[in-house]
Amino acid sequence: MSISLIAKTIGESATLKLNEVAAILRAKGDPVIHLGGGEPKGKAPLDAILAAAALLNSGEVRYTALDGIPALKQAIIRYTEEFYGWKPAPENVMASGGAKQAIMSALHAILNPQEEVIFPVPYWVSYPDMVKLVGAIPVPVTPEDGSFIPRIQDIEQVTGSYTKMVILNSPNNPSGAVYPAEFVADVVDFCERRGLYLVMDDIYHRLIFDGREPVNAYEFAKDRSNNSKLIIINGVSKQYAMTGFRIGWAVANPTLIEVMTNIQGHETSGPSALLQHAAVGAINGIQSSVNNLRMTLENNRNVLLDQLRSFDGVRIEEPGGTFYSFPDFSHYNKNSVELSQFLLDKVQVVTVPGSEFGMEGHLRLSYCGSIKEINEGIERMKWALDPNSPNELYIGERKLVRDWS
Ligand SMILES: Cc1ncc(COP(=O)(O)O)c(C=O)c1O
Repeated sequence: MSISLIAKTIGESATLKLNEVAAILRAKGDPVIHLGGGEPKGKAPLDAILAAAALLNSGEVRYTALDGIPALKQAIIRYTEEFYGWKPAPENVMASGGAKQAIMSALHAILNPQEEVIFPVPYWVSYPDMVKLVGAIPVPVTPEDGSFIPRIQDIEQVTGSYTKMVILNSPNNPSGAVYPAEFVADVVDFCERRGLYLVMDDIYHRLIFDGREPVNAYEFAKDRSNNSKLIIINGVSKQYAMTGFRIGWAVANPTLIEVMTNIQGHETSGPSALLQHAAVGAINGIQSSVNNLRMTLENNRNVLLDQLRSFDGVRIEEPGGTFYSFPDFSHYNKNSVELSQFLLDKVQVVTVPGSEFGMEGHLRLSYCGSIKEINEGIERMKWALDPNSPNELYIGERKLVRDWS
């Protein structure tokens, strides 16, 4: 079969693939622990369900405006004003089918073939493929000091005449790092001076710990005009535990939003009417679910850190947000794909190899599941990796015997 040159460069989403693997093993009755997941386990807020149900009951579920229903745009405007201290106009806002589609529409709208997009390592698995999908070139940049926190010099060094855009994701998937305000300020300033687009992927926005406040790129922007090249991406997926609802948004200058809306209009039309209503319910409704989720995740993070610190060969940087950690397991195996497969085969623990995020030797471990899953998952990993472990481990009725050293 003949497929396009671009399609040939695109791989499958490693994280979504692992969800499938876990589901297949579970269906077979295997006692899988999924530490690879990328979604909170709680229920969607009641206000979201009621808003969607009301529309469904009306039986009138139709096409919507391509950039989103007015009520959702108003909710996004209010959200932006409350949490970013700037009130965009409706022309600054486009709702879309998840943050993913909002980012994709921005890439389509801005990039020409061969232009370059810089993003720090470790990065969200999808950025390289998303950039390739529009014929542009991904330029991942590894912080020189090997940490999860880049410096502006790292970005400067890889900026050239083809550079068109920088993407920052903080709180960060996979590391959980929250980039310092000074760094974000430096990048905003650098992009303004060099005329580069800056995409702030804020999808984990308020899922931050230890009393931190979300970093707001607008605060540092000198250009708030209609020429601003700052694009804020956000959505209901993570903060409201509404991953399956597929509603995200972009806030950017009106010309760009118009172009992005035209693109979205031809690719998918406006997002689902039902789910837009649900998103309005979530954003305008009682916000306690976000705080409850944040507190649960912070507690889960602490449990995971305690467990990992008792693991001799593992180096861990404390995540400041999200529901991911990205420990360094290179002491056990420098090849993260091999290590992840080993843990799945031997003790049925799903992890995501660091190589998928551009950083070998690490595994992404999620703590969005239950405390029981976190404790048991790490216990099993320890048993598999520590050569001094007892020879046998029971998982329920099932006896595992070490046949490796
Ligand atoms: C950094 C980052 N950006 C965007 C997304 C996509 O969000 P959505 O589910 O709203 O499309 C994800 C989902 O995992 C993510 O981790």
